Amino acid sequence: MTQDKEAVKRKILTEAARRGMLLNPEALSMLVENYDETSIQSLLDKLAGKAGEQGSNLVVSKEMVAQLIGDRARSEVSIGVHPQVLARDVEAKVEVLKTYEVKPFSDDLEARRQYFVDRYRKISSILRSRADLSPYYSLRKARSLPDGSEGKTIVMLYEKHENYLVVEDPEITAKIMIPKDCSRDLREKIDRLIPDSVVGVSFRVSGSKLFCRSLIFPDVPLKKIGMADEDVSVLMTSDIHFGSQKFSEKAFRRMVRWLRGGGLNERERSQAFKIKYIVIAGDLVDGVGIYPQQEKELQVKDVGKQYEMLLEILSQIPDYIKMIVIPGNHDAAPRALPQPPIFREYMGRAGSNGNLLSLSNPCMVSLHGVRFLVYHGTSMEDIATFSKNASYDKPDNSMELMLQLRHLAPVYGSRTPLLTQGADELVVEDVPDVFHTGHVHVFRSRVYKGIRLVNSGTWQERTKYQEQMGIMPTPNVAGILELKNGGFSEISFA
Ligand SMILES: [Fe+2]
Ligand SMILES: [Fe+2]
Repeated sequence: MTQDKEAVKRKILTEAARRGMLLNPEALSMLVENYDETSIQSLLDKLAGKAGEQGSNLVVSKEMVAQLIGDRARSEVSIGVHPQVLARDVEAKVEVLKTYEVKPFSDDLEARRQYFVDRYRKISSILRSRADLSPYYSLRKARSLPDGSEGKTIVMLYEKHENYLVVEDPEITAKIMIPKDCSRDLREKIDRLIPDSVVGVSFRVSGSKLFCRSLIFPDVPLKKIGMADEDVSVLMTSDIHFGSQKFSEKAFRRMVRWLRGGGLNERERSQAFKIKYIVIAGDLVDGVGIYPQQEKELQVKDVGKQYEMLLEILSQIPDYIKMIVIPGNHDAAPRALPQPPIFREYMGRAGSNGNLLSLSNPCMVSLHGVRFLVYHGTSMEDIATFSKNASYDKPDNSMELMLQLRHLAPVYGSRTPLLTQGADELVVEDVPDVFHTGHVHVFRSRVYKGIRLVNSGTWQERTKYQEQMGIMPTPNVAGILELKNGGFSEISFA
């Protein structure tokens, strides 16, 4: 502890003793962390009153402090201490377009077959609406065409080999040869193609074999970025990993203070006062038992406590700011995609007070008419394995490929667990204005065909696992999207 903090601690203890109060250690450290010269006396007075009311023999708990600090943050805003707050006066316009609830799990072969047929049909219909696929043949029909015939078909990739692809459609499995002298465009697309994705193939029959002439990715149309009438902003973040020893608590609290008007200068403050929404794309906490020997790297070893303590910090954010959260692979929710919202029991009061909206991974939500596709991004590990040009340090390339293949997690049976039954909810049927992911802990943003791609980094410093994997995270930054003009900036709290 620095000299200053030591002095603050002594002052608080003296003042508390003067009021006959006892502070438990957690309450004391929370008061020290949130110390404010101008309000400490009234805060201690209120605490004394509260402890007296609760008949707790004037022992002050961390919960009492947290509640008062939260109230103070809210009242600072609501009584207009900061007249330049803009977002407070703008009515929230949130529309949940897609979110998934828990489905009963059955590992039934027929259900799995239907799931892949559903994927094939949905992406086929996108392909047909986006490209000219005539003359079109099913894979079975294509194989029976005479030499010299040309045509198009739609396939799901099963395996990729140096000289051929093994592909399927709902009827049969077949080989499609890759010509030795294929074009650069075709080679590049084959290198990027990943298993279980659905694409169009332009083919020619030669020697009773099908030869690939080109691949047609379903892709997204070029569009104008969606904009709102209201001049408010969205803060985009993810991968807080609360509970990890590597969680950057100071930087995270700095962000919360900034949201409450604690910016260093006028520019920073006016930027903060436009924030109307915070979107958190998963991995809110580090969880427990997520990987072998994780407990050695945990600061808080109980998952319930991890959520409780994180929500306590989030409760200090002014309540005119609406939060939208989804689970990641570290959160308390079923693992297979689509993941339903984080279990309600962990979200406590926060999940039901209207200020925090807990949705599924993935989900689609409209903020003032701007459509956000929010997805944690677990499948980026598989994409980095199977696709050239995709890697952990370039998540935007993986995001671009997901949009080109119109699927968030095509690969089945590798690292990303999929709920393979019934409808495939991971097909990107509706094109968003903003595509927001996390998971790889690297901040990257750019625009692809009018869609703002944002991988929003992390609040966790480099872990041992990341050192072993050679991954360099970019912690303590967040993205800010201005809904009125599509302007995007990155802000650091390091
Ligand atoms: Fe993460
Ligand atoms: Fe993750």
